[in-house]
Amino acid sequence: MTKEEVLKRMRELAEQIEEHNYRYYVLDKPVISDYEFDKLLEELQKLEKQYPDLVLPDSPTQRVGGTITKIFPTVKHKYPMLSLSNTYSIEELYDFDRRVKELLDLSMSEKVEYVCELKIDGLSISLIYEKGYLIRAVTRGDGIQGDEVTANVKTIRSIPLKLKGHFLPNIEVRGEIFMPVKVFEKLNKEREEIGDEPFANPRNAASGTMKLQDSSEVAKRKLDAFLYYLIADNLPYQTHWECLKHLKEWGFKVNENAELCKGIEEVKKFIDKWEEKRWELPYETDGVVVKVNDLQYQKTLGNTAKSPRWAVAFKYKPEQATTQLKSISYQVGRTGVVTPVANLEPVLLAGTKVKRASLHNADIIEKLDLHEHDFVIIEKGGEIIPKIVAVDTSKRPAHSKKVHFITHCPECGTKLIRNEDEAAYYCPNEFGCRPQIIGKIVHFVSRKAMDIQSLGEETIELLYDNHLIKNVADLYELKEEQIIPLERMGEKSAHNIITGIQESKKRPFERVLFALGIRHVGETLAKKIARAARSIDHLQKMSIEELTQIEDVGETIAHSIKEYLSKPQNQEIIKRLKQHGLQFEIEGDFHQSNKLKGLTIVISGTFKRWSRDELKELIERNGGKNTSSVSKKTSYLLAGEDPGPEKIKKAKELAVKIIDEDTFAKMIE
Ligand code: IVH
Repeated sequence: MTKEEVLKRMRELAEQIEEHNYRYYVLDKPVISDYEFDKLLEELQKLEKQYPDLVLPDSPTQRVGGTITKIFPTVKHKYPMLSLSNTYSIEELYDFDRRVKELLDLSMSEKVEYVCELKIDGLSISLIYEKGYLIRAVTRGDGIQGDEVTANVKTIRSIPLKLKGHFLPNIEVRGEIFMPVKVFEKLNKEREEIGDEPFANPRNAASGTMKLQDSSEVAKRKLDAFLYYLIADNLPYQTHWECLKHLKEWGFKVNENAELCKGIEEVKKFIDKWEEKRWELPYETDGVVVKVNDLQYQKTLGNTAKSPRWAVAFKYKPEQATTQLKSISYQVGRTGVVTPVANLEPVLLAGTKVKRASLHNADIIEKLDLHEHDFVIIEKGGEIIPKIVAVDTSKRPAHSKKVHFITHCPECGTKLIRNEDEAAYYCPNEFGCRPQIIGKIVHFVSRKAMDIQSLGEETIELLYDNHLIKNVADLYELKEEQIIPLERMGEKSAHNIITGIQESKKRPFERVLFALGIRHVGETLAKKIARAARSIDHLQKMSIEELTQIEDVGETIAHSIKEYLSKPQNQEIIKRLKQHGLQFEIEGDFHQSNKLKGLTIVISGTFKRWSRDELKELIERNGGKNTSSVSKKTSYLLAGEDPGPEKIKKAKELAVKIIDEDTFAKMIE
């Protein structure tokens, strides 16, 4: 293919992919299968790798991420990002309507047109489009200036990288980035599984995600966005409603539940309608935003220092209910964390019958001053299981005893411990406590780990209770004859189990590392660690300092890895797994060439084609050495976008040659 032909194909692919993204993520009406979609994306990715200089600015490959941003640059907003004044009652809403009419010199009997929109509970974002291309995305920050998070925002598939139709050339569009409730629940479950602190609600999860340095991690979190505000010089439209219509035409995801209301009575109806119905939505809303529709009116009304006078947020009262505490159960997880759960007299809350509430940890029980059989006030938050927010002490039964967090494990009786800076209590008996042992094996066989689908939680419990397995290494010594006589088992299922276990020996090192269940080491991190360490033997030998050099590994994680690998029981399990033929090193010939032999290269900044980990690997594969600081011994400083100024200065002082990505690519070609 000639360069022109390549470019033409790239454009075609980019357009097709973006159209499918739009149909899937904005219209919710996909027309091709995931498989066909992946094929298109793969073809584009391949061309881009071959012809890096032809990569299009709006290429949809950016959606999968890969950019590392160490520090998000601060950007001043062209127009300040104001917030809204809140109202909590219908009276206050009528006051707002009266104020609007007064300021506009309208008679009180006149009906003002308002647009009612759901108030999405996420984080606000400002998107800048020039000539139809998304060029910058900035968080609200303090309203005057925010963080530039463009690479992260580009991974949100419902946000157009390029506008459709007859768009205005230079616009700013504002909206809300949010995490759908289902995505949030799944994320928290995964976090709890690896011993990470869960997020308190979808909003925190969304803003935590936007702060991640690795955009490919952001891409995995499946954020979404609704856009609700168009800003441009000399807007050629008369109403906000019209603006929303155009935003939709240009490809933005605009919430379909907005309504044009004539007069405040209709606004009230909208608010009433959504009070209950909002719990059926796949995202969280905490109120309704009421906006004066006429843009000329908006201009006349203007802003106060903090918020516009033409809009107001009506906030729903949190859904609460009172009920009686029956008992508290304590659940022990895979990592030994003990979680208290309140069992309640069933009560209706936000349309569902509630029997349990989370208490999170001992501190919360203490803070609530919870007593046995107390009447508690529960509130519906972002999670499926509501939380106890207060105790109605006026209803406290006489002589009821204060609730004290248990001191011993409810499963194995071991005395619980608590780490200094953590809120949770643990059962330290990790090799002898049933739910911990079973939890570890369940994690080991799970889909993203060893993927042994013939083994479910129930079968694992059965095998454990029949003394056939005590740890993951025992799995590889199981025999069909041992399984056949067990309850619900037979020759066929026994055969499937053993075949599944044997098959799993093929899983690559990164999966095995994840499967071991080291605290805080999730799927992605396991990959990064495996790539950096290359083998378990080398990982064993790495110091805390060396471990923290691995991308995304901080002190806590480094210590967690060290602690895991220093335990004799774990060493024994690893030894046995190795004997059974599991993969404990990265396969394949690591060495590619000697093109960089004798060269020491320091990497700084961010790069278009590779992540820093990939670059490190490339240097090593080609016989070179990668170090972290510039010294006399450094051969080259490989500088990407926004390199560290200290590194540049040092390189210049020591006359170390500074090279860019393209030069590096040629060196290893
Ligand atoms: S309009 C100048 N519309 O609520 C007014 N805001 O408390 C711009 N929000 O900062 C905001 N849904 O982050 C508007 N449909 C909606 C909204 C919405 C959520 C957020 C937004 C804003 C905050 C104000």
